[in-house]
Amino acid sequence: MSLYLPFFNLQNYNTLASPVVAQFFVSVKTETELLDAIQFAREQQLPLLVLGGGSNVVLRDDFPGLALHIHLLGKKLVSEDENFFYVKAAAGENWHEFVQYCLDYHYWGLENLSLIPGSVGAAPIQNIGAYGVELQDVFSELTAIDVQSGLSVTFTKDSCQFNYRDSVFKDALKDKYIITSVTFQLHKKEELKLQYPALQNSLAQYSPIEISPTLVSDVVCEIRRRKLPDPQKIPNVGSFFKNPVISEIKLLSLQQLYPTIVFYPLANRQVKLAAGWLIDCAGWKGYSDGGVAVHSEQALVLTNPNKRKGDVILALAQKIEESVFNLFGVHLELEPRVYP
Ligand code: FAD
Ligand code: EPU
Repeated sequence: MSLYLPFFNLQNYNTLASPVVAQFFVSVKTETELLDAIQFAREQQLPLLVLGGGSNVVLRDDFPGLALHIHLLGKKLVSEDENFFYVKAAAGENWHEFVQYCLDYHYWGLENLSLIPGSVGAAPIQNIGAYGVELQDVFSELTAIDVQSGLSVTFTKDSCQFNYRDSVFKDALKDKYIITSVTFQLHKKEELKLQYPALQNSLAQYSPIEISPTLVSDVVCEIRRRKLPDPQKIPNVGSFFKNPVISEIKLLSLQQLYPTIVFYPLANRQVKLAAGWLIDCAGWKGYSDGGVAVHSEQALVLTNPNKRKGDVILALAQKIEESVFNLFGVHLELEPRVYP
């Protein structure tokens, strides 16, 4: 039987540490408790705020509904074929602990995604990615509860419509399903992905024979600890904006004015710009005002040292968006989800 706690401060359930109050809060450990919580919200006519680790949400203000913390646990090997292990993890498992577990059992493929905060269940929502690998590269299927009907549904890779920091769960099916488990297709043989520039630089000191998935994981952790603030010490949600995608033609005109602009080629005559470079170039790096700041090592990360509510952080984000647009004519899109 779950406890529905009224007037609950969510400060410890979001990594921006915003002190907003939910009308009710419940943490669910089983699917039965999850179904009960959905029923409770329906009966009380409360909107739902589903939370894993709270590392990709901006809580603008108090939430007039039920904050539902997903704490479903468990992970196991479910099957294997000639080339792959299929490993299933419940939505509430901590992402980095799951990556470590897979490394320990020699289920390869997650090493570049080491140390991303949050839960397994949130990983498909924005198709998490880092250092040249995205969730979709290692994804097999997921199960989710349909909030309307309470039925459990399986989603294949195609039905998730993964894209850069995007999936069907951020678009057409936004807030319609609660993910309960994710199954990963992980390599039996080591398949190292070493193309990402920062990763290549850090691995240059090792001979090829020394480079293993565990070393890649260690190096990724080292780079991340150097660049990104630890949310336990300095509240943040990682990148605050997506890297914008523009046409090659637009890039050429920007390069006339900014020859060092950082970009990554994509298909269809498009390129992805480094939003951190744009914000840095616009002079925001290290800026601080009203208790919120732009991180001094990585301008794409906004920090909330004074633990303000999300509306204050969003006000800074808007100023940054405007200034980047005025300088480069490029729109920045928020990466984290905003509630309420
Ligand atoms: P939450 O913040 O709790 O939720 C995020 C969204 O998913 C919300 O809309 C929520 O309602 C929904 N959701 C959560 N769980 C479920 C579920 N079970 N079913 C349905 N909906 C659900 N992201 C990257 O992609 N790459 C990075 O390199 C990266 N680095 C980061 C570094 C730092 C320091 C921080 C703080 C964040 C970083 N992030 C990165 C963002 C974040 O870690 C990921 O988006 C992560 O997957 C969020 O997990 P979470 O459990 O904290 O999600
Ligand atoms: N840069 C600057 N100044 C800055 C920040 C970055 O010049 O203040 C330049 C860097 O020098 C580099 C380029 O911009 O040339 C890209 O920087 P970085 O390698 O740090 O990566 P990013 O594009 O800023 C993306 C993801 C991160 C992910 C890393 C590694 C997005 C929105 N962000 O950041 O994901 O960890 O690549 O793959 O795609 C997240 O989503 O929360 C996140 C942290």
